Amino acid sequence: MNSNRRDFIKGVTAASALIATQSVAKPFNIIRDLKKISPNDKIRIATIGMGIQGNYDTQAALRNPDVELVAVCDLYSGRLEHARTAFGQQLFTTRDYREILARPDVDAVLIVTPDHWHDHITIAALKAGKHVYCEKPMVQHLNEGKAVIDAWRKSGKTMQVGSQRISSASFKEAKRMIAAGDIGQINYIESNNDRFNAIGAWNYSVPPDASPQTVDWDRFLGDAPKRPFDPIRFFRWRNFRDYGTGVAGDLFIHLITGVHFVTNTLGPTRVYSSGNLAYWKEHRDVPDVMTSIMDYPKTDQHEAFQMVLRVNFANAGKISNVTRIIGNEGTVEFSENNLILTKKKLPIAPGYGNYDSFFTFTEDVQKKFVEEYDAKYPAETRTAEPVKEIKFEAPKDDDAHAKHFGDFFANVRAGSQGTVEDPVFGFRAAAPVLACNESYFENKVVHWDPVTMTQKNPAVSSGKKPAAGKKSSGSLKKGNTVATKS
Ligand SMILES: NC(=O)c1ccc[n+]([C@@H]2O[C@H](COP(=O)([O-])OP(=O)(O)OC[C@H]3O[C@@H](n4cnc5c(N)ncnc54)[C@H](O)[C@@H]3O)[C@@H](O)[C@H]2O)c1
Repeated sequence: MNSNRRDFIKGVTAASALIATQSVAKPFNIIRDLKKISPNDKIRIATIGMGIQGNYDTQAALRNPDVELVAVCDLYSGRLEHARTAFGQQLFTTRDYREILARPDVDAVLIVTPDHWHDHITIAALKAGKHVYCEKPMVQHLNEGKAVIDAWRKSGKTMQVGSQRISSASFKEAKRMIAAGDIGQINYIESNNDRFNAIGAWNYSVPPDASPQTVDWDRFLGDAPKRPFDPIRFFRWRNFRDYGTGVAGDLFIHLITGVHFVTNTLGPTRVYSSGNLAYWKEHRDVPDVMTSIMDYPKTDQHEAFQMVLRVNFANAGKISNVTRIIGNEGTVEFSENNLILTKKKLPIAPGYGNYDSFFTFTEDVQKKFVEEYDAKYPAETRTAEPVKEIKFEAPKDDDAHAKHFGDFFANVRAGSQGTVEDPVFGFRAAAPVLACNESYFENKVVHWDPVTMTQKNPAVSSGKKPAAGKKSSGSLKKGNTVATKS
């Protein structure tokens, strides 16, 4: 569990009381249907999916000035009631997101539902003329990305995808260092996100009042296969392929988004995953240990490099979750709040001796070798520059989450469609993680064209579903029952 989440759980009562008091003072008005939002206007938001992250996102959005929450949609009645307590009794609440989209007093929606709903609600919201902040990963399957991009382009509305860490000071500093050539040419990137606790492994608490009356189960299922009410599937949806995107979609996405932001890359051409369901076997059908290898081709922004990502939900060892970008002149190692740049440059002279073939030469040959070496490598080519280490710590008040929303709202106000994580960026980051899943479940290398955003060897059936808006037959998902692979 990240510290954000811990703090929220500890502080929910106090925070709820405070927010409730603040928002009671603001009467709920249906204001005119503004087509354009001027820099001085309030942006009125609605959150669709008021679960764990829906609460965090809403709070982060409201830490920006002139933003007002007017409506909330969720499928569990307890969360609608909690939202009114936390954010104000005047809120419009509903189980049907279409009622939110129909409201003229909503300028922008936060889509914070399980992954299988992202594309459907995003497309509907853009068509309804709403600006969209959609949680990561932008889509659940590789074949859903382009429809979202098309809808966004046609809509003229602003869209931001929510992998908020790229708005942190530390990620910006990493980007600046890479662009300045501080580590030379990148050749390898490694990043991991390990955990060792039940909540971290997504076994979230299930409320004792969960029932078909308090939960809109049929709507939750959406285009996923029909099945009887199951509170575990509803409250722990990440554990199931029908609704989530596994460790890749939940966690690799942050690592990849960070790397794409920092390096300006467009994405990998080859993706391969291996893994296992090692520990959390009680009900999930996705692996809890996964390693993926990706080949990024040379572009005008960087040399070719390899990236290796890992999640291990049963890591009882030392956990150190950082991203390490390795170049031929140094390394940048960073997390959300701090960064270490290590600069290390090889001397021009290669050296000789020690564990080397030099001592195996005859004495005469050694002599000749030394003469030639001395002629070729004068003294100044023989010493390396001293290793330099530069540490960067984000300011204590660096609020990446609020800043990510700040970027979204600034673009909404400016009438600009683009954001730091717009749908093109969002899909270029989501596609490799979805490819990780396809590689794992279909036991294949996924070939991807990061420029055209097209899969070169698409799946025949598994993991595919009809594009948003089309009715699912359900039968396309039949191949999705693989639980583990040896
Ligand atoms: N950016 C981040 O750091 C971050 C962190 C956690 C989660 N997330 C993302 O946020 C999303 C939600 O995750 P969560 O942990 O809050 O899940 P959650 O289960 O706590 O909340 C999801 C909520 O969505 C509601 N919901 C489901 N289908 C809906 C629908 N059709 N219409 C309206 N509401 C619906 C459910 O009732 C539930 O309350 C996921 O996409 C996840 O990947 C992002």
